[in-house]
Amino acid sequence: MRILIFGATGMLGNALMRVWTGDEVVGLGSADADIRVPEQVEAQVQRLRPDWIVLSAAYTDVDGCELNPELARAVNTHGAINVARAAANSGAKLLFISTDYVFDGTNTTPYATNHPRNPINHYGRSKAEGEAKIMEILPHACIVRTSWLFGAGGKCFPDTILKLAATRPQIEVVNDQRGCPTYTDHLASVIVQLCGAGAEGIIHCTNSGECTWYDFAREILVQADSMTKVLPTTSDKFVRPAKRPVYSVLSPASLSAYGVSMRPWQQTVAAYLAQRS
Ligand SMILES: NC(=O)c1ccc[n+]([C@@H]2O[C@H](COP(=O)([O-])OP(=O)(O)OC[C@H]3O[C@@H](n4cnc5c(N)ncnc54)[C@H](OP(=O)(O)O)[C@@H]3O)[C@@H](O)[C@H]2O)c1
Repeated sequence: MRILIFGATGMLGNALMRVWTGDEVVGLGSADADIRVPEQVEAQVQRLRPDWIVLSAAYTDVDGCELNPELARAVNTHGAINVARAAANSGAKLLFISTDYVFDGTNTTPYATNHPRNPINHYGRSKAEGEAKIMEILPHACIVRTSWLFGAGGKCFPDTILKLAATRPQIEVVNDQRGCPTYTDHLASVIVQLCGAGAEGIIHCTNSGECTWYDFAREILVQADSMTKVLPTTSDKFVRPAKRPVYSVLSPASLSAYGVSMRPWQQTVAAYLAQRS
């Protein structure tokens, strides 16, 4: 198969470019095609004639999106529309990477794929609208929702915690948001499998289990043999422009239907630490 990845220069894009073997893969960054510009997207898709397009490109700075909602909509909603139209024109299949932030966080049990979208910040709104528009243009598109990504080749939570721990005896981390960390290398391998299986519809793909950011930080520092102490705190002590869902764990049922399961998040911390060193 011929694969075209938009967002290949990002954190997940880096992992996709590393793990995707056995197919002909072309990766593009924003310098190659700005997804806000339909002509640039159309030209690349017509030039490369892919079987699959993976749309990982997005404006992912959640607080930045809150301060600049027009940019969030331009990239995450209109960019998605532009890529979906180009895919429809060329007959390519589309896999769109979306987010747990399409939900409001009021659940107390894992979100099913058909749970109504109700985002509480501009990033979530721009991605939720992108999902809806893609489904209108390409009803057979595949939408992969994931959460709390970390991995090589990007700014991520474990890297930030390890850098802070290198200079501080203790750090405070919020203990009132629950989600599931997801290692980009694992997610990338699952995306390869899903494309190979001709996947369609909404699929939730995260590592298994759930935790708070505090639990996640503690696990990172225990596994890294750090002496730095982690203290639990609450989100009201770290006021940020965008509200975050309190609970955004995604149910694995839709992925299990493809016979795929993802490892517990704690195991992926070990894999990331080994990769980082
Ligand atoms: N990070 C998370 O925790 C998280 C959680 C859930 C879902 N997601 C979703 O997962 C996907 C990948 O996230 P990530 O963290 O790997 O992203 P990232 O590291 O922030 O990378 C973003 C990518 O998007 C590209 N991009 C940005 N604006 C663009 C534009 N106007 N035109 C073309 N390309 C543009 C960037 O290209 P350049 O670098 O070349 O400018 C880069 O390749 C995104 O769709 C995101 O919404 C992320």
